[in-house]
Amino acid sequence: MARGAPPRVRLDYTGCLRERVGEAGFDERRIGEAARAAEGGRRDLRRALDQGRYGFDAVLDDTRAIAAAVREGRRLARLGDTLALDGIGGSALGAQALQTALRPKSKRLVVFDNVDPEGVAARLAALDARRTVVAAITKSGSTAETTANLLVLMQWMRRRLGARHVQRWTAVTDPEKGDLLALARRLDIPTLHIPPNVGGRFSVLTAVGLVPAAFLGLDVPALMQGARDMRAHCWSAPPAENLGVMGAVLLHLFATERQRRIQVVMPYADALLHLADWYRQLWAESLGKRLDRKGRVVETGQTPVTSMGATDQHSQVQLYVEGPPDKILTFLEVEAWREEVVIPRLFGDLASTSYLGGKRLGELLRAELRGTEAALTTAGRPNFTYKLPRVSAHVMGQLIYLFEFQTALSGELYGIDAFDQPGVEAGKVATYALMRRKGYVEEARRLRADLARPRAII
Ligand code: PA5
Repeated sequence: MARGAPPRVRLDYTGCLRERVGEAGFDERRIGEAARAAEGGRRDLRRALDQGRYGFDAVLDDTRAIAAAVREGRRLARLGDTLALDGIGGSALGAQALQTALRPKSKRLVVFDNVDPEGVAARLAALDARRTVVAAITKSGSTAETTANLLVLMQWMRRRLGARHVQRWTAVTDPEKGDLLALARRLDIPTLHIPPNVGGRFSVLTAVGLVPAAFLGLDVPALMQGARDMRAHCWSAPPAENLGVMGAVLLHLFATERQRRIQVVMPYADALLHLADWYRQLWAESLGKRLDRKGRVVETGQTPVTSMGATDQHSQVQLYVEGPPDKILTFLEVEAWREEVVIPRLFGDLASTSYLGGKRLGELLRAELRGTEAALTTAGRPNFTYKLPRVSAHVMGQLIYLFEFQTALSGELYGIDAFDQPGVEAGKVATYALMRRKGYVEEARRLRADLARPRAII
């Protein structure tokens, strides 16, 4: 896409309009006003990016870092066909989203994020050490889950391959601090860096996502170009025609003026399942904040929920159409499929089979989406749809940048810091204390005293 040209991903917000959803919606005039009012936020965000306070935008131009990540991913690919990705949250969800969407042919990721002993044991049992390489990914370099799985993986690899197993490792972490950096230096493990001004959930287009993407053989140049194209759109298109501005503005309007405190993200494509999970983290951790920038208690946020079309039409949609009017639905629609399946013409004498025979599954799925949109709209339930021309590396790059921009701009609209995560840090500290990590004695004493109090268990 040329700068300023229409992006290939499109946004249909018909289901947000008052003329369609009645009182729950907004008229074009109000939406246009809100979009223009968001210009101040867009300017403030631009200033913060230009000052280097946040780096998710600049990483798209760091050609040296991109090339280094691709080289490292390819080096690992020469050593094995399975990448054990040791990381959690923002250090794993992006790579997982890329794998699920872009379907690598002969390589795979196995993600070690949780520390469920049965889950870890099962993943290990399914690995062959001689075909496995490992990427330890942690911005802080000390997250308990990632560190524990690192130790487990290290011992597991060493027992099977001896000391040379370290050649099969890579580390992705902060350039200056954290124990993963120290450990990688001690063992001489190649290390790639996450820029200090890029937080975990905004890091998929750094080595965090690019090493796994290159390992999987995905089209990294197309991914990055898609992100750059969407960046050009988000910073040049006028507010009312701007996907990033309109997404942020609509969600903010519905959350603050229509009490739509829940955003249900519903892709109609299996390939986008983990993209929705990645987005859920981005939206939740960035906007769920107790304090605004002035230190006032605001308790902002909109709860993101993921749902899969058409499967969850038979599980959740009843609630969305008739339950509490507290949700806005975000659909992801794929306009052209990479593969199609034609439904065979069989049992033409039966009413339930004859109308399907000869049609394509993609056609059926689209009809399901249109039907759900219509049911919601008729019931006065706001909804909007991102239309994806297809699932490709370029489109994934577009979506990743679009959602990062939209989230960052939403932070400006709420007047909060979308880039910190004090709530996550509090949980990390409590885990360190309860597991007796050095330096957390006071916190451990307080938590143990609390845990010793009588509990309401029946
Ligand atoms: O977005 C974030 O900052 C978090 O969700 C982190 O990605 C997550 O907690 C993992 O942290 P780290 O990469 O430091 O191990």
